[in-house]
Amino acid sequence: MDTFAFIIHPIDPKRDVSRKYPILGRLLTERQIDFFSTFFPPVYISEIDGITSQATGKQVQGWFIACPYTPRRMLELPERTVYRKIIETGHAAEKLGAQILGLGAFTSVVGDAGVTIASALDIPVTTGDSYTVAIAVQAIREAARLMDIPLNQATAAVVGATGSIGSICAELLADDVAELILIGRREDVLEALRDRLQGPGKAVITTSTHVDDIARARLILTVTSAVHEVIHPEQLQPGSVVCDVARPRDVSVMVAATRNDILVIDGGMVDVPGPVDFHFNFGFPPGKAYACMAETITLALEGRFEDYTLGKRISRQRVEEIAALSAKHGFRLSGFRSFERAVTDQQIEIVRRNAHQSRRSR
Ligand SMILES: NC(=O)c1ccc[n+]([C@@H]2O[C@H](COP(=O)([O-])OP(=O)(O)OC[C@H]3O[C@@H](n4cnc5c(N)ncnc54)[C@H](OP(=O)(O)O)[C@@H]3O)[C@@H](O)[C@H]2O)c1
Repeated sequence: MDTFAFIIHPIDPKRDVSRKYPILGRLLTERQIDFFSTFFPPVYISEIDGITSQATGKQVQGWFIACPYTPRRMLELPERTVYRKIIETGHAAEKLGAQILGLGAFTSVVGDAGVTIASALDIPVTTGDSYTVAIAVQAIREAARLMDIPLNQATAAVVGATGSIGSICAELLADDVAELILIGRREDVLEALRDRLQGPGKAVITTSTHVDDIARARLILTVTSAVHEVIHPEQLQPGSVVCDVARPRDVSVMVAATRNDILVIDGGMVDVPGPVDFHFNFGFPPGKAYACMAETITLALEGRFEDYTLGKRISRQRVEEIAALSAKHGFRLSGFRSFERAVTDQQIEIVRRNAHQSRRSR
């Protein structure tokens, strides 16, 4: 049977360490977990089985392996040290017999986005980011439809637009919407991106280094690598949709607590074909995975054992190809979730109604 492995790592240190080591998760503080993670070896997490292609009936087997670093630790430590630990985790995947390796969350953000890691391993590597992009853009289009926001008249914003995921999401959204605001920290890089993306038949594109400018947008896709929240309730206009692709999250939990006129959706969740069992709770309901995991699985189902998405510049052609291949094997955009809970049709109706009222009383 063909095989894959996927590297995960703790994102919310106490919660995620508790999933594997309940007592340590309870006793240690976040700072202690950060500190001890430096000395921890890669951790075998679980075997993944049951994945079955809808197109071919082929089954693949996989493994989760954890790189012990938290996002904060990966930003604090020298790049070489972080690479070394991820490569060590990759070697553990090789020993298990994996034929391809996916890099989850921050292990794909660090440094050159997988290039150095791939060159140090014998098996091919993908960050999974091409399918993450395809699903994030699909999710925001679907959320706009449910919220009655006509895409071709809408103003959208991408927060973290200079990043690898953000810039290609912006490129795709520029085809759909009337106005697009590119938000980031470096004006010169934002301007270069705007110049590359603008053209006839595209959105009117502007740039900003102030996250507050999301107030002008109804559709917001946020995908920064910040380790703290960057989007807060007071910055959002009624009736807006925020698709949060970042892990850790960009959107403050206060948005869910205080704004019932805004739809926040988690970016990147898909249904997996076949009776999949991950034998590990990474926070999703049964049968669902992150899009970046799905990209790795699709490549195994296709028998495409080659480096796929690597480096900071993601190609549109790869996004379209992996979207088509994943759809063929039966991966689908999942129902929406927000802050780890399913979003029901009834909730969307309530948000629409509240948004309508807030907009009328402004
Ligand atoms: N949901 C999923 O399945 C999935 C899959 C893969 C990755 N991710 C997540 O996606 C996020 C981005 O990944 P990436 O590979 O695109 O990273 P990246 O290439 O490093 O880009 C990150 C972007 O965030 C910006 N940024 C960083 N810190 C910021 C801050 N404090 N305030 C505002 N902007 C800030 C950066 O701006 P500068 O250019 O100024 O540095 C850059 O534009 C990460 O959270 C990652 O974990 C999610």
